[in-house]
Amino acid sequence: MVSLKDLCSGIPVDPLPEPRPRDDSVAHAPIRMLDLTREEERLAVQNALRYFPSHCHESLAPEFAIELRTYGHIYMYRFRPDVEMRSRPLPEYPTKCQSAAAIMHMIMNNLDPRVAQFPHELVTYGGNGQVFSNWAQFLLTMHYLSEMSEEQTLVMYSGHPMGLYPSSQAAPRLIITNGMMVPNYSSRSLYDRLFALGVTMYGQMTAGSYCYIGPQGIVHGTTLTLLNAARKHLNTNDLGGKVFVSAGLGGMSGAQAKAAVICGCVGVIAEVSEEALMKRYRQGWLQEVVADLDNLVALLRNARRRRKPLSIGYHGNVVDVWERLVVEYEASGDLLCDLGSDQTSCHNPFQGGYYPAQLNYQDARDMMHEDPVKFKNLVQDSLCRHVEAINKLASRGMFFFDYGNAFLLEAGRAGADVGRKSGLHATTFRYPSYVQDIMGDIFSLGFGPFRWVCTSTDPSDLEKTDEIAATIIEELSKKEVPVSVKQQFEDNARWIREAGQHQMVVGSQARILYSDQEGRVAIALAFNKAVADGHLQSPVVISRDHHDVSGTDSPYRETSNIYDGSALCADMAVQNVIGDSFRGATWVALHNGGGVGWGEVMNGGFGLLLDGSQEAAHKARAMLAWDVSNGVSRRSWAGNANARETIVRTMAANPGLRVTVPHEVEDDSLLDRALNPSF
Ligand SMILES: NC(=O)c1ccc[n+]([C@@H]2O[C@H](COP(=O)([O-])OP(=O)(O)OC[C@H]3O[C@@H](n4cnc5c(N)ncnc54)[C@H](O)[C@@H]3O)[C@@H](O)[C@H]2O)c1
Repeated sequence: MVSLKDLCSGIPVDPLPEPRPRDDSVAHAPIRMLDLTREEERLAVQNALRYFPSHCHESLAPEFAIELRTYGHIYMYRFRPDVEMRSRPLPEYPTKCQSAAAIMHMIMNNLDPRVAQFPHELVTYGGNGQVFSNWAQFLLTMHYLSEMSEEQTLVMYSGHPMGLYPSSQAAPRLIITNGMMVPNYSSRSLYDRLFALGVTMYGQMTAGSYCYIGPQGIVHGTTLTLLNAARKHLNTNDLGGKVFVSAGLGGMSGAQAKAAVICGCVGVIAEVSEEALMKRYRQGWLQEVVADLDNLVALLRNARRRRKPLSIGYHGNVVDVWERLVVEYEASGDLLCDLGSDQTSCHNPFQGGYYPAQLNYQDARDMMHEDPVKFKNLVQDSLCRHVEAINKLASRGMFFFDYGNAFLLEAGRAGADVGRKSGLHATTFRYPSYVQDIMGDIFSLGFGPFRWVCTSTDPSDLEKTDEIAATIIEELSKKEVPVSVKQQFEDNARWIREAGQHQMVVGSQARILYSDQEGRVAIALAFNKAVADGHLQSPVVISRDHHDVSGTDSPYRETSNIYDGSALCADMAVQNVIGDSFRGATWVALHNGGGVGWGEVMNGGFGLLLDGSQEAAHKARAMLAWDVSNGVSRRSWAGNANARETIVRTMAANPGLRVTVPHEVEDDSLLDRALNPSF
């Protein structure tokens, strides 16, 4: 094992570490086979060799060439350090400033094998959400961070540490961009080639921005989604005896089973990968595992009748589950599913994100690189079957929603009947995206996935922060606020009061809590004070999912409820990152492609270290206010009534805030008359 000091001493070349074969004790990313030209292969190897002095090239070039041809990418396995990869208390990191240690803490958490989906390929979640593109980049980044002063900024280009640049104390210590492309060239096929060349990278949302906190983040979001879907579409606050069916028990999708039980319903989640399924089972997030459809239906009927909250993992393809539910309906008239969704990695459907029903798991993994054209056809046929079964059940009363994974988009592209609209409304399908219909209005109130990490790594610090946050949220819910806001505060107060007992921490001592601007600022200031008073042992990092009110422009997800024609524009996410960077963020990240896939979205995020100083309090106040108000303003300008009410209320409380508020066209027919005078 190497020490953290050795880990931070740069890329070892004298001597080179011994070559490392792939280690089968962890799951590995699917092989990404591409038909690279000889010239592209040369470029990929040459690019990889840039990290090493020329005397190493003779040894490394053939090894990198083999990695490229075997796995479709040069991960540089030989340089994967022999270290226990997990976040550590800040004083353990050999750094010159605390911010650098906090960033290291977050990076090592993103690569922790308990947390990361494919840790040796540096993938945190979502099938291809890279933290870095190769191990040399990881080592070099850790080295730069260990040397960085409070007057320098580290610059990351899609996994590559370009270097340390002089800046100032007030500037961010780290600026990350991932996957930035000249817009016309942001195509998926080009991405695969550029990733193989090692010049760009898909950072998902919180993988390449070092802010992932394990599936807990998504448990909360999924819980809120299910609760609000039931309120809106099943007309109930009580999910007892209701059934939720979906697919995926991976990085984020793994949260579905847990959330279903927290909401009190029966969750049936199909998963083709035994490894992913059993991980959730061992973790206690999945209560029952079945591999037989008859058993599944029997269990489901029983739990439904007894109104018993239960999570059932079906080991197999979700298409088989949907088709069986249709058969059950046709035979008995029983609609065995009330809420339906899907969380396969459809943002990446042809390289392991979606497994077609016609093949078993291993055959699918083989075919996707041995015969990618045939594999793509099977995926598309499977998506058509998938949607056909859902359409039948939905026509009988099940409510289906897209879970922001590009499921309907890809199914539509495959020719499935998804009822896609045309023209300016082409982002809309027969079934709403959960943001369009459920979370969008919540974002418009300014509520979003605020989160924090206690860098002491001590669970007792997390408990104290839970208590602080709960008290603040409960106080805020007593204030004079609209009913919709009160409801959100109450849901979140319940969440944070129960969060500890659900044992959702995997990796760093982190917590998520949806809050609005006022709540986020108040909680951050209270944490900072608790650090200053010594009530907390060590600084707290605050952050959020990019999937938030302001962080993401994504026409099929976060901005799918933007109806003024600007859903395809990305000014909000870019403005957000720029604005956060000069208002106090410790680091910022801007990504192409997180969540719904390459080229489909622009998203940004931040990390801010609360070290107990006055300056940290000032930064948190200024940055968090912008971080929320930016998106609320845009949503208000696009015509959302919740957002308009929220921004007007926020302006009343903040004299420095002056936002342009839209004037509504009260009489719609005016537009027709103006455009067609004979109307
Ligand atoms: N819920 C949210 O708020 C939210 C947020 C962000 C992203 N997403 C999207 O959800 C998707 C899933 O994310 P993840 O991190 O869990 O990805 P993941 O790749 O870790 O998990 C997806 C799982 O689906 C399984 N799977 C694929 N096809 C299947 C099939 N036909 N039947 C059964 N199982 C199948 C895979 O084996 C895999 O384990 C991504 O597209 C992601 O972008 C959702």
